[in-house]
Amino acid sequence: MKQYVLIAALLPLLACSTAKTNPNIAEPTSSNSCQTPSTLKAAGECKGIMMGNVLRQQQIANVEHVALLAEEFNYLTPENATKWMHLQPERGVFDYGKADEIVNFAQKNKIKVKGHCLVWHSQLPQWVDDITDPDELKTVMETHIAQVMGHFKGRMYAWDVVNEAIKTDTDAGDGNPRMRKTVFQRLLGDEYIDMAFKMARKQDPDVKLYYNDYSIDANNDKADYLYEMLKGMVQRGVPIDGVGFQMHIGTPNNIATGAEVAKNMQRIADLGLEIIISEMDINLCGGRNEAWQQALYHDITLACAEQPACSAITFWGLNDGSSWLNSWEGAGCKTEKPMPLLFDNKYQKKQTYEEVINALTGREL
Ligand code: G3I
Repeated sequence: MKQYVLIAALLPLLACSTAKTNPNIAEPTSSNSCQTPSTLKAAGECKGIMMGNVLRQQQIANVEHVALLAEEFNYLTPENATKWMHLQPERGVFDYGKADEIVNFAQKNKIKVKGHCLVWHSQLPQWVDDITDPDELKTVMETHIAQVMGHFKGRMYAWDVVNEAIKTDTDAGDGNPRMRKTVFQRLLGDEYIDMAFKMARKQDPDVKLYYNDYSIDANNDKADYLYEMLKGMVQRGVPIDGVGFQMHIGTPNNIATGAEVAKNMQRIADLGLEIIISEMDINLCGGRNEAWQQALYHDITLACAEQPACSAITFWGLNDGSSWLNSWEGAGCKTEKPMPLLFDNKYQKKQTYEEVINALTGREL
């Protein structure tokens, strides 16, 4: 009898024996089978990976949307609401309304939140771009970081501190890698990145701090440049916890194979940094087919599952209908059907969903 009790008690542990040690992930319960998990977050828990999605404030009223989000995911990024232009549209005028709604929704549903993003050249109000004095800009940057992180202190699990600071000749990450000429870089030099991380760490010793960028997952110039940048930051003792591979795969960004992603993750892990997949979508623009997309979702998820330093996968949109790629001219595939996500327009699971689950549970394609 005793033997049976012991075996029953050990079963959940045995089922998840491949789990990474992530203190932020709840231990799987006995009802969560790691062979046949019922949701993405259940599957992620078995590998020590948080499964994330995004939310726009307007979507909170969509009952079907948020119910599915809460059911499947345990990590959330506000898609736009915590960007500078929304939080401090005018100098000294802070508006937390939309962001608070999203964070409150997450808290009610026991979902961790990553703020996105403190310092970025885009969705930056004009009044910041117009600054010409370095000392003034430094003060403005410090004030923004202090006010915003102070407001959300204790409610954010992580922040993207600097977003998209590296530029190459193509959006796919090839040619002449360099620091992007933003107002921050022009006035403060490349050091603005170290500065931002130090300012952020001063505000909160516990929150995770990430550098976030796109087209850094394949064998390309941008990935190599990022690696050198991160190496320098680690050597200088800059308080950075990790890097977000946005993972917007396909036109106009890079197309990475699972092996390339694994290689880039490994060398960053060797620096002692964490890796998250922070904005994943794989679009069908440019005549790509669904079999290709499904296989890539599997292989890239597997790269994260097999990398102990990879701690989260966030998809940039819940269903195909709500993807940013449907409406943003700059994405380059506006007239095509990107269909880049895990659920279709009617919130039904696609084969891409199954392939993510397969990769997390070790099943073959
Ligand atoms: O909300 C307004 C709406 O009222 C108005 O009618 C409409 C007209 O264009 O615009 C709506 O705002 C748009 C907003 O998305 C909400 O859909 C903005 O114009 C549009 O610029 C904004 O685009 C966002 C984009 O960042 C801005 O750069 C996307 O939603 C968002 O998904 C995208 O996210 C970025 C990450 O932050 C960084 N990495 C790349 C990623 C994709 O571009």
